[in-house]
Amino acid sequence: MCYTFALHKSLYDLTIMSGFFLTLDGVDGAGKSTQLAFIQDFLQQKHIDVVCTREPGGTQLGKSLRDLLLNSQSQVCADAETLLMFADRAQHLHELIIPALSQNKWVLSDRFTDATFAYQSGGRQIAKEKIEQLENWVQGDLRPDLTIILDIPVEIAIERIRSNRNLDRFEKEGIDFFERVRESYLNRAHTNPERYKIIDTNRTLSIIQNDIAQILLEVINQRSVS
Ligand code: TMP
Repeated sequence: MCYTFALHKSLYDLTIMSGFFLTLDGVDGAGKSTQLAFIQDFLQQKHIDVVCTREPGGTQLGKSLRDLLLNSQSQVCADAETLLMFADRAQHLHELIIPALSQNKWVLSDRFTDATFAYQSGGRQIAKEKIEQLENWVQGDLRPDLTIILDIPVEIAIERIRSNRNLDRFEKEGIDFFERVRESYLNRAHTNPERYKIIDTNRTLSIIQNDIAQILLEVINQRSVS
């Protein structure tokens, strides 16, 4: 008990973290890779020190977990999958995210806990309360400052995935699974419009990126006056 308290207090003392934690999420096929590259480039042009990372797989340990999670040929039950996502996240926070935020850097993460709510709770139908417990355990009070959700109709997302690449364990799921994942993202985003911005990616690239740029500029301007 004492150990947990001490661990949380030292690692997750939010008052000493003045960086900015930005996450990008959404159903597979929503166009994350393209927009990540755009955001990274945009922030660098504004001379912002940004650490780009991803889940699962943002650390050495995480890379092994990612391989298990995405490519395992043996069965992975929904509870094991959820716990492995949080094992990856615990290491990621400890090794990379918290140190970077403590050094006033921006952290841009390709997926974070919203993906667990969407895929493991929405998709696999694990109780949301169980994921909330893990979130509180692993993250303490730490939540992203801003989450951009890339949204697209599931039929289009699936078409894109299937035409582009070899499918991983998640991408092989059916349309119902992805409908639940999408609905979870949208529900979460609607409950907290301050933190979440939804971007419709079923539009031309220049329009999508103009919207993302506006969101980022607003944050940058706010931070420069405060
Ligand atoms: P991606 O990095 O190519 O998007 O692939 C990661 C996959 O892992 C994607 O299908 C979503 C899934 N995932 C979860 O199911 N739960 C999680 O918590 C995270 C971070 C990812």
